[in-house]
Amino acid sequence: MGKDVIIACDFASKEQVLSFLDKFTGRKPFVKIGMELFYAEGPEIVREIKARGHKIFLDLKLHDIPNTVKKSMAVLSRLDVDMTNLHAAGTISMMEAALDGLTRPDGTRPLLIAVTQLTSTDQERMENDLLIKEPIDKVVMHYAGNAAKAGLDGVVCSPLEAGKVHDTCGKSFLTVTPGVRFADGDIGDQKRVMTPAEAKKISSDYIVVGRPITAAEDPVAAYERCVAEFVD
Ligand code: C5P
Repeated sequence: MGKDVIIACDFASKEQVLSFLDKFTGRKPFVKIGMELFYAEGPEIVREIKARGHKIFLDLKLHDIPNTVKKSMAVLSRLDVDMTNLHAAGTISMMEAALDGLTRPDGTRPLLIAVTQLTSTDQERMENDLLIKEPIDKVVMHYAGNAAKAGLDGVVCSPLEAGKVHDTCGKSFLTVTPGVRFADGDIGDQKRVMTPAEAKKISSDYIVVGRPITAAEDPVAAYERCVAEFVD
């Protein structure tokens, strides 16, 4: 798996996502399907987008007891997605069970990526709500280390953390980074952002890009610009 741009298809319905994807008549982008679309349309939307020739990152962030996660991952694996994820907070044994469930009878499996601390969780909330008193950077790196120990393929992280994750967990441990904006674009509600070209420099493996592409006047041109800056 090489570097790639993943489009976050944060749409509420099948009609919206398919009319968006219809614009891409040439190269078929790698797309991320999140909870909103999955809960609205069910597994059929995954099959339909896959059948159109797209790679799929199914972003459902599983977090439950190991047995439940293992069985759920087996179901997701049969959907033939290319990448999926879970919360590292579910512990190493949950992550190991997830990998086990995700592995198909022929030994192949989708990539499995861990969420460390959500970017919506800051130091204060982590200390007060979760009673985790360590600095958040240390917690993120510890969770990334746990994911690597469990045999996962990588983590979702800020592009600003990608270099440190590679230093700690190895060059082949994947970093999947949202929070990407064009140098001349709107930041929106993202706080810490990087351009696709900067994300390439600090060796992110995959960038996840939503509104800079989905809300662009010409989404295909915006996607091609991301690819040109990040991959080519
Ligand atoms: O529109 P935008 O480019 O901000 O979309 C980024 C995508 O990445 C969204 O689907 C968002 O939920 C996801 N994401 C994020 N930050 C994280 C984890 C996921 O922005 N820490």
